[in-house]
Amino acid sequence: MNTRRPRRNRKSEAIRAMVEETRVTTDDLIFPLFLIDGNNKKVEVASMPGIFRLTADLMLKEIEECLKLGIRAFDVFPAVEDHHKDKTATKSYDQNFFYLRALREIKKQFPEACIMTDVAMDPYSSDGHDGFVKDGKILNDETLEILGKMALAQAATGIDILGPSDMMDGRVGYLRNILDENGFTEVSIMSYTAKYASGFYNPFRDALDSAPKFGDKKTYQMNPANRSEALIEAELDTQEGADFLMVKPALAYLDVIRLLKDNSSLPIAAYNVSGEYSMIKAAAQKGWLDGDRVMKETLLSIKRAGADVILTYFAKEFAKGSR
Ligand code: PBG
Repeated sequence: MNTRRPRRNRKSEAIRAMVEETRVTTDDLIFPLFLIDGNNKKVEVASMPGIFRLTADLMLKEIEECLKLGIRAFDVFPAVEDHHKDKTATKSYDQNFFYLRALREIKKQFPEACIMTDVAMDPYSSDGHDGFVKDGKILNDETLEILGKMALAQAATGIDILGPSDMMDGRVGYLRNILDENGFTEVSIMSYTAKYASGFYNPFRDALDSAPKFGDKKTYQMNPANRSEALIEAELDTQEGADFLMVKPALAYLDVIRLLKDNSSLPIAAYNVSGEYSMIKAAAQKGWLDGDRVMKETLLSIKRAGADVILTYFAKEFAKGSR
């Protein structure tokens, strides 16, 4: 028998911890939150057990609790009522709209929290698409102008990181430029670099009521079959001034996370999306999986693949368990 016995390094808890290669901490995590208009309302997302759409007052409490648990970064998404949606996403840059008001309030109460926002038209668009629609087509450059207004309005609330999730060409450079011209040189851009046209987003679209009204997102989100294309997107986002590159979804794209990590010196983020959360929750509810264990294994695998930052609906649960 070979004298090498790898099991020696597994023989006790102390030794296993000593040789542990990857560790997930609350510092790695960004917690996505769903905001609704109004007061003192909390509505569970049917397809995401344990995740709630919150009014601003309750979201402030939620953020306070999370900060105490060591979660310091949040990505806030608005769920917009239908009568506020239109072709050009006008509400997305209306400073009196509940989303922008809530962001100002959050930064005022918790200046130390890192707040990220989403730059894309879908929550505000009557077409349910991330871009401006004309004759059934998503128009790229017309969309950039709207995203620019949205980004400036969000930046003006004092938030820390913009997350363009729309996949229009040239949007990172366009946003960087317009931000800098308007004095927002400190606002970061976490680009959704390799965002795939995925079936794993459905629970999120339930949460925001933002499913496309026609067609799908395949003319702007990436084909799940493609890997090299992720490198093209990464190259462009890097040239255009992104501060982080993101891969989304995470679990079915661990190879893409590793690819970007090995080919970029920028921090790599991965979005452990709604459907990935729901799968684990559903199986755990049925008693088929140990939800807590599988959640930790999932986050670990994403970090091991090369993610420096993980956006995950498990953030608070993970933080509670790691105390
Ligand atoms: C929309 C956006 C989506 C998600 C984040 N921003 C959905 C989509 O592209 O349809 C998905 C997040 C998730 O599933 O958790 N711009």
